[in-house]
Parts: sequence; C-alpha cells; structure tokens
Amino acid sequence: MIYLNGQYMPIEEARIPVLDRGFIFGDGVYEVIPVYSRHAFRLDEHLRRLKHSLDGIRLASPHSDEEWADILGRVIAGNEAEDQYLYLHITRGVARRDHAFPNPPVPPTVFVMSNPLPKPPDHLLATGISAVTAEDNRWLRCDIKAISLLPNVLLRQKAIDEGCAETVLMRNSFLTEGAASNIFAVKEGMLLAPPKDNLMLPGITYDVILEIADANGIPFEVRRVSASEVFHADELLLTSSTKEVLAITRLDGKPVGAGLPGPVFRRMHALYQEFKHKVMRAK
Ligand code: PDD
Repeated sequence: MIYLNGQYMPIEEARIPVLDRGFIFGDGVYEVIPVYSRHAFRLDEHLRRLKHSLDGIRLASPHSDEEWADILGRVIAGNEAEDQYLYLHITRGVARRDHAFPNPPVPPTVFVMSNPLPKPPDHLLATGISAVTAEDNRWLRCDIKAISLLPNVLLRQKAIDEGCAETVLMRNSFLTEGAASNIFAVKEGMLLAPPKDNLMLPGITYDVILEIADANGIPFEVRRVSASEVFHADELLLTSSTKEVLAITRLDGKPVGAGLPGPVFRRMHALYQEFKHKVMRAK
C-alpha cells in the first residue's frame, strides 16, 4: 500500500499527470528512511533533512512532523515486512510546462511507498564490495536530496558496467561521497570523514557512524580527505540507510589495504547492530 496526495491505495492504482514537474523537470526532493521492526529509524533526523531539502528548493513543507509520522505509520502498517525502507517524494506539483515556479503555486505532489529492506548478504560482510572512482560532476548543492538524480544514475552505472557495486566520487582531488552513499577512509586506526558541506548529502547513517565512533573511543577526524588518502587508505567504509555500513575492499581493481574488511569496519558493523537494536528496543 502506498500514499499519494491524501489517499492510500495499492501501487498499481497510483497515477500522476504527465505535467507533474517531477516528471518534466525533476523538480522535487525525496527521503529514504529505514524501518526496523516496523519503527522508522531516526525519523526526526530524516524529517529535519527533508525540511532542509524542501527549503533548498523553496517548496513549503506539505505536512507537519505529526502528519508525516501518521502517514508513514499507516504506510508501514499497510506493508508486510517487519524491516522496510520508506521512500518519500515531493514535487512542485502539476502545471503548464514553464521553468519558473507556478504562480500562483499549485498543490505539491506527495508520494510515499515502502519496500522490504533486504539484509546485506553474509558474503558481502565477509568479503566487502568493489568500487570504482570517478570525478564528481554533479551540481554544487549535493546537500539537497533532489529527485533529479541523472548524474548519480550515470555515475552508479559506471560501477555496474565495471562489475562493481559503487562509485566513489572525487571533486578536485578530494573525496566527496558515493553515487548513493557516504564514504569514510581509515588510516592507522583513524576514521576520516569528509565534512558535511554543499558537496555531499548529509547522511543520517554518516551521523550515526560518527556518534558510535565518539561513544566508543574510535578516533576520528572530520576534514577534507584527499584522493591520495583514499587510494592509500587501510580501509574504506560505505554507509547508507539501505546498506548500513559495508567495507569497500577493492578500488579501481586494486585491493584496499589488505583487501579484506578490516578491524575498524568489523568493530563499526558490530557496534552499529548493537546501537540499532538498543534504539529499537527503547521504542
Ligand atoms: N541514498 N549520499 C547520497 C548521494 C545518497 O543518495 C545517500 C543515500 C547517502 C547516504 O545517506 P543516508 O545515510 O541518509 O541514507 C549519501 C538513498 C539510500 C537512496 O537514494 O536510495
């Protein structure tokens, strides 16, 4: 069951007009929220980031946090899996094609769906994943979670074409993030995290990782990470709401460090599971 503009229905019945500005211009924003045991994880943080994205495209929030919680709760209840991931999508609505905002404004299109959250297969945790690098050729507002994802789509496909799972992006020889993930490097036990600025999405999982590092005495630095530090890292970590934390063990066809998930990944993965279960038990 999905939510579309005030109504709940099976996804097969959902329809939007072709003049929707999401379809015509990619004029909208989205969120992806993991759901564990039917509870949205870090809901307040995701709703805060959604507000940041909406502010970034000058679109008023269609719902209060209470209304969002109610809609999301109903969509979660209308889907079978215990663990899911919610997808929220808001566009500037339906209007005659014109780049300028509709004046007077039209109602936004609001769509929410949920899908089962797949568990990362054990072999990925044991071996890690392979990635390629590419120049980050996206715009300069990557902090907005915009639905116009064509650069991310092309960059991710580069990885797939080369038999890999993710593309690690560099802008002017500094690490930004992955095509659909945040990236951390590890050197001599130190976790290195690029700063949350306009060049990357402020990941909710990224914040959890730094909180866990802080609470467990894992040394970390938030600072610009050079391409050379990425290529010479002992470990590389990838995070996202749907993947949690994974080790990148091959980059551009070469092993990262020893070529296997390292001690910082293993510790972080275990602490992440513990953290998640503790938070969900408290609900
Ligand atoms: N993407 N950077 C980009 C470009 C992303 O698309 C994502 C997540 C992240 C990680 O953010 P978070 O930890 O809040 O999920 C970083 C989602 C999962 C997607 O587009 O499906």
